[in-house]
Formats: sequence, structure tokens, C-alpha cells
Amino acid sequence: MSESAAETTTAIASEMIYPSSDVIERARLKDWDALARYAADNLEGFWADEASELGWYQPWEKVLDDSNPPFFRWFVGAKCNIIHNALDRHQATERRNKLALIWVGENGSVRTYSYFALNREVNQFANVLKAMGVKKGDRVTIYMPRIPEIVIAMLACAKIGAVHSVVYGGFSVDALQGRIEDSESKVAITADGGWMNGKVVELKKTMDEAVKHCPTIETVLVVQRTGHQVNMETGRDYWYHDLMKLPIASPKCATEVMDADDPLYMLYTSGTTGRPKAILHVHGGYMVGIYATLKYVFDLRDDDRWWCAADPGWVTGHSYIVYAPLIMGATSFMYEGAPTYPYPNRWWSLIEKYGINVLYTAPTAIRGLMRFGESWPHRHDLSSLRLLGSVGEPINPEAWRWYHRVIGGGRCPIMDTWWQTETGMFMITPTPVVPLKPGSGTRPFFGQEAEILDEAGNPAPDEEEGYLVLTKPWPAMMRTIYKDPDRYVRQYWSKYPGKYLAGDSARRDKDGYFWIIGRVDDVIKVSGYRLGTAEIESALVSHPAVAEAAAIGLAHEIKGQAIHAFCILRQGYQPSPALADELRTHVGQHLGPIAKPEAVNFVDKLPKTRSGKIMRRVLKARAQGLPEGDVSTLEE
Ligand code: PRX
Repeated sequence: MSESAAETTTAIASEMIYPSSDVIERARLKDWDALARYAADNLEGFWADEASELGWYQPWEKVLDDSNPPFFRWFVGAKCNIIHNALDRHQATERRNKLALIWVGENGSVRTYSYFALNREVNQFANVLKAMGVKKGDRVTIYMPRIPEIVIAMLACAKIGAVHSVVYGGFSVDALQGRIEDSESKVAITADGGWMNGKVVELKKTMDEAVKHCPTIETVLVVQRTGHQVNMETGRDYWYHDLMKLPIASPKCATEVMDADDPLYMLYTSGTTGRPKAILHVHGGYMVGIYATLKYVFDLRDDDRWWCAADPGWVTGHSYIVYAPLIMGATSFMYEGAPTYPYPNRWWSLIEKYGINVLYTAPTAIRGLMRFGESWPHRHDLSSLRLLGSVGEPINPEAWRWYHRVIGGGRCPIMDTWWQTETGMFMITPTPVVPLKPGSGTRPFFGQEAEILDEAGNPAPDEEEGYLVLTKPWPAMMRTIYKDPDRYVRQYWSKYPGKYLAGDSARRDKDGYFWIIGRVDDVIKVSGYRLGTAEIESALVSHPAVAEAAAIGLAHEIKGQAIHAFCILRQGYQPSPALADELRTHVGQHLGPIAKPEAVNFVDKLPKTRSGKIMRRVLKARAQGLPEGDVSTLEE
């Protein structure tokens, strides 16, 4: 299961980069060890302290109920709503006039929202949703570009106790349709399009296709972003801006009182075989977990401008664009489009122009921008930056050093945060005062413990690769898989009973630092995006030429991993470069451009176990010219 990242990281494992005295002086938390010890000895006390910094309608009777693992409950008996902390609380303070959001469109449009203005628009839209029949507990599908209304839509759902299900705008018809069907949403929210690389992404068109087969959808709300012509179906489709002008869109709306463990959102993600599953997060524990992690790790202050450059459609955006920065009362920056549009200095010019203090992004973006050379960032004054962040995949030391030296001017520590859709919050991460090693996320967050286990469940020796597990519950943890609690238990808590199986391989070095190597299941991380082999394969076999297909991830210089597909053709079809291209396009159209395979190879047979399971591991070894490992179960 090892990849080249492991080799490169070993070589530099001993190199420590210490924070400067400026960084330490400014840090809110100076003594990492003391807090780590306190949280280790007093897990509930630590989280209760953090929770007390937030607002609750009714306090909890018990911090953690672990009587029915792995169905942990946090802040039992408490009443709250994440919106009370993200918006309501600030209205009574001077923060109401502070900027909550600065947004820049790819085409140059700019919009800003104060906490007051954001609250007002969220209230209005919450009332619109209510008028459309959305009630507490109802699921609402959101399929939108990176524009302020996606944030508003999510917050409005949370406000009235509806459960949002955001589908990333880079997904296409099949993915969207499957997620709407599974969630049984009655209302979907989309836009006429979004700008990306100078082109309009036709979200409404995709939504139209998807809802053709989704009988639960009664209403589609459409935000006007690009102004180009889209189909609006009478009685089903309504313009956001039309509804927001009506008396139903009153700017006053009471925030729904929720139990701490009531659902906040579901987010589909790929795992081992089968359809993507909906990870369910809740109001109470989640808000505490994301608040505490953003506070300690990125140390946001009132005068900071925070830019999490992810998409709101993924968990990084949910936790650290939409919810946590608002809970902290921070000013967030959001940019709609591509980092290289129209030139590779777009991000750097935005940092300069808006005085961004913290940039949080993915290694793939760094590698992508690195290839254009240093002269692009050097044209800009990036001295406002004081911290950098990385997430989504292992960051190779070369990219780490470039990010640190060229973007961070050698003075900004890089917070390499390891976490997952399922964990909701950072799990293995430094804080600004922790000495860093390029490529390592350092150690578990306060109150957390991680272990590396071998196949049999024994702790792996230092420096040896094994399965990464987490051994303590944490408040932002997923509560279940929507409609499939058995799968939640099976997938995450069964291999090593009582321990959370992350699905990653990793190793721990002699200093206790963790090094993530990569997924050990059927997940491929393409440019940090999480895709399941099953989804890609089913898109391939939906083409009439393909009888059977297998997809694997192979190392790619910029994307981290790229998808390579292997197809057995049906009788009557001949392999050709044109057919390979057609299949790539087919996957792109059905699943999404992010899932388009790098290469499609035609084969006569696929390596399978005797029970018929494709051995992707063997395909991968063959493609890399590596030994095939244990092939005793191979049927060939
Ligand atoms: O493989 C790990 C990788 O991303 C996976 C989780 O993907 P997702 O649920 O889409 O969430 C991504 C953003 C939180 C993990 O199992 N991963 C995430 N962060 C890191 C990482 N790998 C190495 N280093 C990281 N910092």
C-alpha cells in the first residue's frame, strides 16, 4: 500500500522547523504540552471548557454519553442551534457591523456582507424556504457555484432546522441524481451557472437532467449569477431574487431550537465499494469541535482576514468557510473561480489586495501554482500573511518548502491538518507553536489519540506503516450514515472494535509525529477530491461499449493521484484512441469533470479474486511495474 510519498518523507523526517519568537509571542496558546496533558486526563472537562465559550439555549446534563458506542452523544440534554453562534449572537455586539464575508467573482464582481447584512439575508431566505414548505428535519439539496448564496442557503437551512445536503458543483448528472434520490429532498437550490476558467458551468442544466428522475423534488430555487438563458419550469422553478422581493421574505425569523444531537447536515462521500454514503453531522458537538480547532490551530483574531480556498461543497468548506469562521466572528474571504484565471497570479493578487492573513488550501493547488514559477507571486506583496494551511492529501516536502518560502516568506508556519468528512474537524494537526516537519501533520489535536496498527490490530513499531485509527470520541464526529447505521458500524468501527478506522495508512516517527501515506480502501484522491472507484466504474459500464471496468489511482505530479481506467469491451467494439477519448468524456459528463480518467486502457481480463472481486492492488502494481505482492487469491 506504500507510495512514493513515504520514501521522500523518510529522508527528511528528522528536519524540524521551529516557530519564530514573533509567532510564539502572538500565539493565543503558548504551551501546547500543558493543554494536551490536561485534555488527555480530562477529555470531558476540556470539551466542556470549549463549549462554555459558545451560546446555548439550555445547558447540557452530560458532556459525553458513551454508553452505546459507536453511537456517541455529546452535550446530552442541551438545546442550541449553530446559527445562534454563527449569526444571532453577533447581532447584539459591535461585530454586527464587521465584515463577515468578502466575495470576489471570477469575472471581477465584488460583494461584501457585514454580520448584520448576512443575518438579514439568511432570515429572508429562511422564510422563503418555510414558505416553500420546508420544515425541521426536511432535507434540502444545494448544488451551487462558489457564490455568497451557497453560504446563505446553508445557513438558512440550519436556522430552521432543515438538513442541508450540498452536492459539489463539479459533480454531474448521475452523482447529483443519486444524492437527491437518497436524501429524498423536496426542495433543491441551484444557480443559473457559475464562472470557472472564463466559462459558465451549467449547473441549472445539470439540475434539470437530474430532477427528471427524482420524483420527490417539488421546488427548484435558482440564483441568478451569470444571467444567461436557462430553462425555468413553471410551477417548479423560482428565481431567488424574485422570491426575496416578496412579503414572504421577511427579514425577521426565529432560530429553531434544536437538541444538541439533531442533524445539521449530511454530506455524501465515497468510501469502500458501493454508492456514496451520507455522513451525518449534528448541531451541538460539531459547532464545539470546529470552533475549538479553528481557534487553536489558525489562532484567528478579530483583525484577521481568513481565506479557506476550498469549495463550500466539501467538508472543508462546510466546517471552515461556512460555520467555524462565523462562530469565531471572523472575516472570511471567498473567491469564485480558478486560481489561474486569467493569469497564474490571481490568488496572489487577491491576497495583496484584500490583505489576507491566513491562507488555507490543498497541496494540489500549491503544486499547480508552483509550476508557473516564483515570478508570479513575487510580483505581489504577500506580507499580510502570517499563517498558511494545507489539507486534503499528503503535501510533498518540495511543495511544502515552496509554499513556506515563496508564499509565506519563510515566516509563516504551515498548519498541515489531517481530517476527513467523517471527523468534521481537524484531528491530526499542529498549532502555530508546534515545531514542524515538512509533510507531517504532527500530532493529534487536544483530547485525541491516534494509533498505527498492523493487520492483526497490534501497534506497529515506530516508523512502520500501518492502519491509522483514532481511539477517543470527539464532539464533531459523524453520528451515523444517513439511513444506514449498520454500515457506519461496519465500515468504521468493526475492523478493530472500539477504534475508529480512518481508511488511511500512516506511520508514526520517533518523535510521535504522524505521516499520512494515503488511502487503503477504494478511494482515489484526485486533486484532493475524494472519489470512489465504484462510482467511476459504474459510469464507465453505463457506456454501451464497456462490459467491465476497474479504476485505480496512480501518482500524478500536480493532482497527487490521477484516475487510470481499465476496460473490457463488449463484443463488436474495437479498442481505439478515439474510443478511449469517448469514454473519458462519458465519465466527465455523467459523474463530473473531476472524475474524468487520465487514461483509459483496454484489456482482455481483469485480475480478480476467486469470489470475483477486482484486485485493484494488483492492477496498480502492474501499472507501476512493481511486484504484485500476495496473489494467492488471484483467479487468473
Ligand atoms: O486520505 C486522507 C486525506 O483526505 C481523506 C479525507 O478526505 P475527505 O473526507 O474528502 O476530507 C478532506 C478534507 C478534510 C483522508 O482520509 N487527507 C486529508 N487531509 C490530509 C490528508 N492526507 C494527508 N494530509 C492531510 N493533511
